[in-house]
Amino acid sequence: MDVKEIVDAMQQIVGATSMASAADDMAPHFIDWRKRHTGTSACVVFPRKTEDVAKVLVFCNDHGIKVFPQGGNTSTCGGSVPDEDGNSIVLNLAKMNQIIEVNAQNNSMTVQAGCILADVQTAADQVDRLFPLTLGAEGSCQIGGNLATNAGGTNVVRFGNARDLVLGIEAVLPDGRIWNGLRTLRKNNSGYDLKHLFIGAEGTLGIITAASLKLFPRPCARATAILGFANVQHAVDEGIKLQMQFPGELVALELISKSEFDISLRHAAQTRNPFEATPEWIVLVELAATSGTSEAWTDRMTDYLRAAFEDSIILDAVVAASEQQRADFWKIRHSITESNVREGMGITHDIAVPTYCIPAFIQQAGKALERHFPEAVPVVVGHMGDGNLHYIAMFSHNYWAQLADHRKTQLKLSHLLYDISAAMGGTFSAEHGIGSLHVPEMSIYKDPVEIGLMHSVKALLDPHDTMNPGRVLPRP
Ligand code: FAD
Ligand code: LAC
Ligand code: ZN
Repeated sequence: MDVKEIVDAMQQIVGATSMASAADDMAPHFIDWRKRHTGTSACVVFPRKTEDVAKVLVFCNDHGIKVFPQGGNTSTCGGSVPDEDGNSIVLNLAKMNQIIEVNAQNNSMTVQAGCILADVQTAADQVDRLFPLTLGAEGSCQIGGNLATNAGGTNVVRFGNARDLVLGIEAVLPDGRIWNGLRTLRKNNSGYDLKHLFIGAEGTLGIITAASLKLFPRPCARATAILGFANVQHAVDEGIKLQMQFPGELVALELISKSEFDISLRHAAQTRNPFEATPEWIVLVELAATSGTSEAWTDRMTDYLRAAFEDSIILDAVVAASEQQRADFWKIRHSITESNVREGMGITHDIAVPTYCIPAFIQQAGKALERHFPEAVPVVVGHMGDGNLHYIAMFSHNYWAQLADHRKTQLKLSHLLYDISAAMGGTFSAEHGIGSLHVPEMSIYKDPVEIGLMHSVKALLDPHDTMNPGRVLPRP
């Protein structure tokens, strides 16, 4: 089918007001957030109901038209934009953004997949509950995208990944079958737990159209501190102690290198360095409690830190004395991704190793960079409690621009780091997913048996390779 025929067919199914086919309207959907991945399609469709998603998929599946699912388009690995072929569609969930039900008694809520994550959090908050998934892109990413990528973020240390927050999903298969698995049960051992196939599948098996989510008691008290360390070993050691000391309350344990902290302070508006002299390693730690007051928890944390300070592990510590100061600390953390884009060309990695291996990884990665890429500045931000590091090799724009083969350089650099992670039993992709960027690594670092099983699942659910082709799985 040519582009015009595809556009006409989509108009018949979803209607002219639920699609875009003019170049200007489609442009934002063809380029990713960091402007590193581009593609094109015949049109972008914005279905308003599950039945329309099903009709679109049936049509595309029957006519060999590839479908690229899209949420908030905040993917960092080229997962959310179409390829260059053009005879495809982008299926964006933005217009399926209704909160279907919030049930405080059941600690659950059911939402359409296109709900913005921040709106899901707000809806929970309004009934005195917490939906704990939180990440820098929460103002624009959609819950469907969060589930499709099994997103992580800054609260995983306490509440787990997106996968752990789901009770049920509704999904549409490429052949148009609608699976209504919107249960809100805490226990259900009636056969294979199929929702987990779609969560983390990055849209390669079908479209997630709605989800039932877990809610938690809303914290009424928080204590937040920013800690400085002379070396990363001390930071990791202290992190483990904090987890033992505050097992029920510790919700965030974020590691930031001095180089990264300085970048955020340099580029993000309204940030201020809480330290007199920035330490080599910084940890942002937060407790959240459902009883007591913020003042009382802040006092408890201060007492604990004072003792730790005397043990000489912690070099410096600033405890947030107000909600404003807490927000200021988080502003530095959440501005990192945007600030990195301004700073230079950051080759970003999303590795995870067993937590105790973090210092060894950082030491070995630093040596590898120094030897093979001395022009790169190592920049680290990570979810320390999860062993998940965004290890970034930061090049100046000028240096990067004069390199001959960007992809080759990136692959060489990344594989140096992935080899180090793999030797520690780690992964090359912890929370951002595979997208199109990391497909080569799947063949190198995943067990062939695992890859074979994934191909079998794909062939069973999407035999015509309609859904998100070229993403996640290497071509068989
Ligand atoms: P998109 O980027 O649009 O899509 C992501 C993938 O999911 C694509 O493969 C797409 O095809 C598929 N998809 C989207 N919606 C559906 C659906 N309904 N059904 C089936 N497939 C679908 N990630 C983290 O894990 N932790 C972080 O801390 C974090 N911080 C970030 C901070 C910033 C500033 C930015 C820009 C990104 C960050 N990310 C983070 C990455 C990204 O935001 C998350 O992965 C997010 O979950 C993607 O959601 P989205 O709606 O934007 O999905
Ligand atoms: C973060 C994103 C990039 O942790 O995952 O900031
Ligand atoms: Zn992250």
